[in-house]
Amino acid sequence: MTAPRPSVVVTRRLPAPVEEQLAQEFDARLNRDDHPLSVAELQDALGTADALLPTVTDRLNGDVLSVEPLRVRIIANYGVGFNHIDVTAAKRRGLVVTNTPDVLTDDTADDAVMLMLIVARRAGEGERYVRAGRWTGWGPTHLLGTKVSGKTLGVIGMGRIGRAVARRAHHGFGMRVIFHDPFPPPADVVAELGAERRSTIEAVLREADFVSLHSPATPETRHLINAERLALMKPGAFLINTARGDIVDEATLVDALKRRIIAGAALDVFEREPQVSPDLLTMENVVLLPHLGSATQETRVAMGLRALENLKAFFAGIPPRDRVV
Ligand code: DGY
Repeated sequence: MTAPRPSVVVTRRLPAPVEEQLAQEFDARLNRDDHPLSVAELQDALGTADALLPTVTDRLNGDVLSVEPLRVRIIANYGVGFNHIDVTAAKRRGLVVTNTPDVLTDDTADDAVMLMLIVARRAGEGERYVRAGRWTGWGPTHLLGTKVSGKTLGVIGMGRIGRAVARRAHHGFGMRVIFHDPFPPPADVVAELGAERRSTIEAVLREADFVSLHSPATPETRHLINAERLALMKPGAFLINTARGDIVDEATLVDALKRRIIAGAALDVFEREPQVSPDLLTMENVVLLPHLGSATQETRVAMGLRALENLKAFFAGIPPRDRVV
């Protein structure tokens, strides 16, 4: 008699190759209609399955994790960021938590560079203009944007994704890269990126033409970019956020944009996703994307396979490689 396979609740629809492999390896409870699970459904999963495979849209806070009885032993998150999981509560409950680093680094860095180009070159505006049938022909002064090549990029948070952005900016666009990170990379890595360290966020904000955020979302980084810090940026500078929405105080960003304290912003993430501050929707100097950083077919499959690998290791009694708790 073979032992029953561990059961895994998968909270959202995942790419087909991932769901197929999950179903081969586990007693996988898939979310066929892709509806976001309610608190009751999440708690039911925690109480009746051996593992949970959630995504960024599942708020696994202390209340949700306090369910009794708790059967789940591992939360294998589909995503690198895990600020939607109360890791202290998870630890208290004896849960293992894993994430999916590395596999989405390139896509997220591409996303940041794409946003920088779109906002600086007014590509969103141009696209809307053509689609609206308003384009009557080329003009020497029409839709002039801001040059990107050769400018100064300020990277806040020089982890995997920050470094990948710095590499693209420096080696691809000849940009000068300055950065702040309380835990900076080794000197040889910094040299390879052609980057210069600044000891404070403020120093980066004062000097950069583009500021790209790559810090993890923690209680310490909540509203890292606030009114005082936005006021330090150059009037011609742009803010790019592909990290997490609550790193930026969205209300003060709206105010800074209205008062032309900075030239524009390009955002892939928002403080109250999927809600977006209504004022942002009306601003031409703002680019808004629906949290697309890792959204390629290749990467979303790779993320799923990485979560699967973590689950397999855990149930084989091997420490999962991406354990965060
Ligand atoms: C992550 O992985 O944290 C992204 O935000 C979603 O892919």
